[in-house]
Amino acid sequence: IQKQTKKLKEAQSFSQLMFEYRAAIMEVETKLQVLNSEFSEEFKRNPFESIKSRLKSPESIYEKLERRGFPISVDSIRENLTDVAGLRVICSFPDDIYRLAELLLKQDDILLFRKKDYIQFPKPNGYRSLHLILHVPIFLASGKKYVKVEVHFRTIAMDFWASLEHKLQY
Ligand code: GTP
Ligand code: MG
Repeated sequence: IQKQTKKLKEAQSFSQLMFEYRAAIMEVETKLQVLNSEFSEEFKRNPFESIKSRLKSPESIYEKLERRGFPISVDSIRENLTDVAGLRVICSFPDDIYRLAELLLKQDDILLFRKKDYIQFPKPNGYRSLHLILHVPIFLASGKKYVKVEVHFRTIAMDFWASLEHKLQY
């Protein structure tokens, strides 16, 4: 019975964690939408074409923890995975990517955890994107909590290339 109780607690904290990631995705998406509207008022065009967001599936979370040799637990997800909450922002031009990223990072509640600039420094296979891993505050009844969100910025052309390359891999 103790084992069952532990399992149940772990399941509850897993759904709590997923809830937090969903909240963080909403926060970042709203911030980007606000910047997009403001920008399009001023310059009569949108800095980005589209935003896609996704929550990593339990299967992929499990698979990645296992592959990387991390413990399978809710704490381990929180500590070791940065891409459970993911957003992809597709821009028209490379300049828009840097402008948008800068405006987002300037906001004083968002913290930059890691940046990988695969546009200035493409991967050997040709992959290009700007990756930001953010710490985003969400406001719960229990108080403020920081959650990791991974944002990929790409142009339409970079996205087209990446989807083809991804298909070829599998
Ligand atoms: P994972 O690849 O997610 O295990 O983490 P990582 O530490 O290698 O991080 P990285 O920032 O390099 O990649 C994170 C994500 O970017 C991947 O999950 C893909 O969605 C995307 N990505 C990175 N490299 C490539 C690539 O060569 N081709 C494609 N199509 N996508 C890539
Ligand atoms: Mg990778």
